[in-house]
Amino acid sequence: MTTPVTLCGLTKQFGAVAALADVSVDFAPGEVTGFLGPNGAGKTTAMRLILGLARPSAGSALIGGRRYAELDRPRRIVGAVIETAGFHPGRTGRAHLAILALGAGVGAARVEEVLDVVELAGAADRRIGTYSLGMRQRLALAGALLGDPAVLLLDEPANGLDPEGIAWLRRTLRGLAGEGRTVVVSSHVLSEVGQIADATVILAGGRLRFAGPTTELTASGESLESAFLRLTATATATATDAVPIAPAAPAAPLASKGERS
Ligand SMILES: Nc1ncnc2c1ncn2[C@@H]1O[C@H](COP(=O)(O)OP(=O)(O)O)[C@@H](O)[C@H]1O
Ligand SMILES: [Mg+2]
Repeated sequence: MTTPVTLCGLTKQFGAVAALADVSVDFAPGEVTGFLGPNGAGKTTAMRLILGLARPSAGSALIGGRRYAELDRPRRIVGAVIETAGFHPGRTGRAHLAILALGAGVGAARVEEVLDVVELAGAADRRIGTYSLGMRQRLALAGALLGDPAVLLLDEPANGLDPEGIAWLRRTLRGLAGEGRTVVVSSHVLSEVGQIADATVILAGGRLRFAGPTTELTASGESLESAFLRLTATATATATDAVPIAPAAPAAPLASKGERS
């Protein structure tokens, strides 16, 4: 179960906005990668492109060398939580997972396993409408784990969690990466994942600002927080530089990313 995710020259243009500009980076198996950047940096867009939910304007996003659409049994390879709004409040947690399991071609026993992994077994027969935000986050993670995927893409999974919930999330992600999975966790709040991320990838304004071992960020004695602010601030300062972006189609206008500040 070692499946890297590789972005190669990944570019996504929304009209005049370069959501991603020529981003090349690898997410490695067996590691938790913190995918960091301020709001609007392009993190969600990158995850959507990896999952084939949108098409790149240029470049590619490959999972174990293949595009998502080319994967034979994608849910067995990639589990993702892009947003947690899609729950039916009247359904129980167990019923929600059972329906997902059916769709994913996964046996009912796996529902019980993932309920245990996310420590939700005790609340599995309660209606989701009664769940706290933290419980919904756990349920979403359970859904992503149903196919026992080699790659986990979690978009802002710490959003709205209390400190205890964040500590739980960190332990759980560590364990999942320890099993050899490629775990990518986005956040706009460095402190949520900074401490547990083996590797850190920082985006700002759609551009790659840093990719490497998290320890490299603090090697000079700088704090993680200050390194993050420095790297993302530099991006803002250079955002007025024109960035050549390949147009999505010949008719699409070329845009510089300096129009947003
Ligand atoms: N569907 C879309 N249409 C137009 N602009 C979009 C769309 N999705 C994202 N964007 C823009 O792309 C940029 C990156 O957004 P996003 O990937 O959501 O950033 P992040 O997840 O890092 O906060 C933002 O400027 C955002 O407004
Ligand atoms: Mg986002």
